[in-house]
Amino acid sequence: MIISELSLKNWRNFRQVHIPLAERVFVIGPNASGKSNLLDVFRFLRDIAKPGGGLEQAIARRGGLSKIRCLAARKEPEVEIAVELSDEVTGDSWRYEIGIIQEPRGRRLPKLKFEKVWKAGRIVLSRPDAEDDKDELRLTQTHLEQINSNTKFREIAKFFESIRYLHLVPQLLRQPEAFQGPGMPDDPFGRNFLETIVKTSEKTRRSRLRRIESALREAVPKLKNLTDTKDETGVPHLEATYEHWRPNAGRQREDQFSDGTLRLIGLFWSLLDGEAPLLLEEPELSLHSGIVGKLPGLFHRLQRRSRRQIFVTTHSWELLSEKGIGGEEVIVLTPDTEGTTVETAASFEDVKEQLDAGLSIADAALPRTISSTLRQLDLSE
Ligand SMILES: Nc1ncnc2c1ncn2[C@@H]1O[C@H](COP(=O)(O)OP(=O)(O)O)[C@@H](O)[C@H]1O
Ligand SMILES: [Mg+2]
Repeated sequence: MIISELSLKNWRNFRQVHIPLAERVFVIGPNASGKSNLLDVFRFLRDIAKPGGGLEQAIARRGGLSKIRCLAARKEPEVEIAVELSDEVTGDSWRYEIGIIQEPRGRRLPKLKFEKVWKAGRIVLSRPDAEDDKDELRLTQTHLEQINSNTKFREIAKFFESIRYLHLVPQLLRQPEAFQGPGMPDDPFGRNFLETIVKTSEKTRRSRLRRIESALREAVPKLKNLTDTKDETGVPHLEATYEHWRPNAGRQREDQFSDGTLRLIGLFWSLLDGEAPLLLEEPELSLHSGIVGKLPGLFHRLQRRSRRQIFVTTHSWELLSEKGIGGEEVIVLTPDTEGTTVETAASFEDVKEQLDAGLSIADAALPRTISSTLRQLDLSE
């Protein structure tokens, strides 16, 4: 199943969004145009649906509704999210919509203005309903987060719950002692990545590490025999042989791997782990440009097996120069004083003409985002 369409109203720096989504989505735009904010919509749905989550907590985690609501919003106080989900294999389709407002008085809790679910075009939930009218407090919770109330659409609650986000920070893995404290829920930066690997069943773990090693061969050809291990104190590690001029190549642990190697291992592992959408931030970081250019093809190959949807934010010319990327797979963010506008690259006539003429997305669409970045850097005015 994939998220095939997204609509937003007053979410962060977006006043209004209505956009179709492909199985592979590249999000491009200048710095601070809202690429991470766009991915955050899907993390928000996950935060609502996950066990121990819920609407109130998902909003509190983002600093309250006033932080979420678009600063450029006009009169309308509500924040709205709508997603269409579709499964090409089974033909299933769903629509989930919520509108969120704040209680005008009292504790000023966030509450639902509405919550609606459609399955195959037929409405299966429409709130507020009679129960909500009797007890207003009910509107502080979605039915997505309530097992008793979501039997008719449990499938989409599970789907949202399995959305994954990864922005692996190699330093967190390599020097955990430098980053004390409880860490973050859902481990978005990969601090507990090694524990996740160790907790996976042995058969799956072995087969994934083997596939990762072979995918890594192009990027880091000297790295061989990638395995997991535990030290004397029971702490998990990754280990590999790193061949060099000495005949007896030494085993190395993750603290000796390069940033790029660690990021690639994290990236490949998460691509193999799960079926719901995977949200990746700037996968090009720390990687050689020759490798970056190969990532879109790699995503495509892995998707052929799992049909897993991938969202990728990127600034990388090399990544977007892959000719196989279509204009409908690329989302262009254009900041404006009234909030950021969101369109597919294919919806710009000039971009479409250039793509039809054989240019890549990097040549046809990336310049749009670069020109406004350069304007930001112009300090002379
Ligand atoms: N509620 C809001 N209304 C308007 N702008 C917001 C809101 N919340 C965050 N922003 C703005 O969004 C920008 C950051 O967006 P971000 O997604 O991190 O950009 P990117 O990932 O493209 O670099 C910042 O300029 C911030 O001020
Ligand atoms: Mg960002």
